[in-house]
Amino acid sequence: MNHNQLFDWRRRSILAVFFVLVRCVSAADLGDLTPVSDWNAVAKGVWRAEIGNLSHEIRYSDLAAAPPKIEALNELSDAAFPFSKDAVSYLVGRDHKVLVRIPTAEDETLYGFGLQLDGIKKSRKVMTLNVDHWSKGGGRTHAPVPFYISSKGYGVFFNTARFLKIYNQVGNRKDSLRNPAEVDRNPPPDEKQAGPWLAQPPGDSVEAQVNGEGMELVVFSGQSLLEVVQRYNLFSGGGALPPLWGLGFWHRVHAKFNADQVREELAEFEQRDFPIDVVGLEPGWMTKSYPCTFEWQKKRFPDPAGFAKELLDDGVRLNLWENPFISKHSRLYESMYPLSGSHLVWLGLVPDYTMPEARKLLTDQHHKDHIGIGISGYKIDEVDGYDFWLWPDHATFPSGISGEAMRQSYGLLMQNMLYTDLFKQRNVRTYSLVRAANGAASGYPFVIYSDAYSHKEYLTGISTSSLCGILWTPEARSARSDREWLNRMQTVCFSAMAQLNAWSSGKKPWSYDGVTDAVREVIQLRMRLLPYLYSAFAEYQQQGVPPIRAMILEDGFSAEQDEIIEGTLDSETNPYAMGKRIEKTDQYMFGRSILVAPFYEAQAIEREVQLPAGNWYDFYTGQWVGNGETITVTAAGLGDRIPLFVKDGAVIPMLSRSVNQADKAIGHPLEVRWYGKRAGFFDLYEDDGQSFDYERQVFRWRRLSVESVKAQAVRLEESIVSGTGQAMFGPVGRFSVMTE
Ligand code: GAL
Repeated sequence: MNHNQLFDWRRRSILAVFFVLVRCVSAADLGDLTPVSDWNAVAKGVWRAEIGNLSHEIRYSDLAAAPPKIEALNELSDAAFPFSKDAVSYLVGRDHKVLVRIPTAEDETLYGFGLQLDGIKKSRKVMTLNVDHWSKGGGRTHAPVPFYISSKGYGVFFNTARFLKIYNQVGNRKDSLRNPAEVDRNPPPDEKQAGPWLAQPPGDSVEAQVNGEGMELVVFSGQSLLEVVQRYNLFSGGGALPPLWGLGFWHRVHAKFNADQVREELAEFEQRDFPIDVVGLEPGWMTKSYPCTFEWQKKRFPDPAGFAKELLDDGVRLNLWENPFISKHSRLYESMYPLSGSHLVWLGLVPDYTMPEARKLLTDQHHKDHIGIGISGYKIDEVDGYDFWLWPDHATFPSGISGEAMRQSYGLLMQNMLYTDLFKQRNVRTYSLVRAANGAASGYPFVIYSDAYSHKEYLTGISTSSLCGILWTPEARSARSDREWLNRMQTVCFSAMAQLNAWSSGKKPWSYDGVTDAVREVIQLRMRLLPYLYSAFAEYQQQGVPPIRAMILEDGFSAEQDEIIEGTLDSETNPYAMGKRIEKTDQYMFGRSILVAPFYEAQAIEREVQLPAGNWYDFYTGQWVGNGETITVTAAGLGDRIPLFVKDGAVIPMLSRSVNQADKAIGHPLEVRWYGKRAGFFDLYEDDGQSFDYERQVFRWRRLSVESVKAQAVRLEESIVSGTGQAMFGPVGRFSVMTE
């Protein structure tokens, strides 16, 4: 763990207090609340304050992959403290719980609060931020990160591993100076109604009830929403950098497959010319599951080391499913018994991984049986459930950590242990999966997945995850038609992890005859885009820019185009005549300059795309498609390819042709495409693709620039802008001017 580093850093942090009046939010008469006055500057644009008694609390930032990247934070633009003096206030109640109140303006929109699958906008919502499976609204989800950003250009992080209940602009204090005026809903016949009667009069603040005696509040500023998110990610230690192979194609085989069945499936990938980088083994690889033994089931995998080597020799990695709950049949059971919590999950022990002894027991076994033979990573399942699935709130753990805090942070704790004690220790990168995370997680190369399966929700997850330092895969498992399969495979190929999870369906990429070629084509396109995508992750790692991003982080995008449905009074179904707002969360940015607008559900073959201001071009043809307008695209018009649009001046490095394993991208010649009319450049990141040597500055940024854009004179130039590393990708074999 990096507690020590973090505490050192905390001691060193400069104690400066910023109270710059940027916007005057009318505060309530604070009543019994006390202003938070002790704000400490962490770096440019980041302030933290401690509230109440923190001695028994866990901060998510204590579990982060790395300490805050102070230098990178200070390189971002100047941004003043976003609140007026004394505007943020708190109360420690009689029940010792902390309440925090943060003012909001009337026209302010709030976004975020973690990997929410029901929408990005969280204004006027009450949310319970507990780790859970996904829920339809209400806040409970796989990564209920207590961090929001505001349309006014700042962010707030409740840095505490506690249950939180948040009232976003909901509730009206009697002493507020900004309550809406009362309106008579039933005026007498001779009077006109003074204005719209509001079923839920908007509140003037965010009020958060923390189920703990103390907490830390962290505030981030920025010149843009993107910069606010960058600051949150940099505060959390920067973004994760996967190994290059992690960005290739993943296929999880049926849970009961044996070594020969995996071999046969891989042979079919080769014969059908489908890329594959990682095979995921589901629970059947173990002697028992669930609860788990973490030991190889020799009836299915008689020679795990030989098998792993055989695959690796072909450039294919193995990823192992596990949940953390330990079976009586495991060699670890007896030693882990005293180091585990009071309750069982799936009848297995729940180890207390805040204890070094417990970590050592597990990681020694994993080193020997898995990593030592070349296993590349894990899929950590079942760390997200709630009351029925995990331990109760009142469960106890030997370290003294409450059942609640353990539940909020277990997914993070698993990532912390595996990343630090297994992979970093060996100087080998991993790309892995986990089903729960929480605050300050951006540095972990773990991708969240879900048992949910709505394509629309999966698209929303791509956007919401980008606002809170989380990686998310809208994995494909099965489909009811060729078209649905194609649409899902296209979406997942433009996400953080291109994964088919056939643990139960047994599907293969070619299972839907009518779309096999189109599916192969999109996987190959992903492979060709590896240099572009890998650089996007490097920007995440170094500058905190999410590689795949919600449109609200994009310059020139209007977030005000939701569909508003007026409410109609109906005493049985809508007694308060409440309207509805339908958000558009079905398009997003992939890397620096590609806008992705997948076909899905009712938009299976035709859909609208809202282009931000500026000129945009079709990825495939280079043709101009619009500027700040909404266009309609069809699958027929695109030859069944996923709708992709590129910004003016974009330079996009691709492999000159597809490869079937990411390893083969190393040294592979490039095709560099240039779109639109404006000059532009792309900084291509290069390192060894697999170790942590980049932390010792062994990497380089190779600039591909199109400087002169005069007709006949367009030239691509190359230079090394920084770093000392070696080349990773090959020379530019083709320069394509896409827009004539
Ligand atoms: C589920 C998980 C699935 C699959 C399955 C295996 O909990 O979400 O992806 O791994 O377990 O039993």
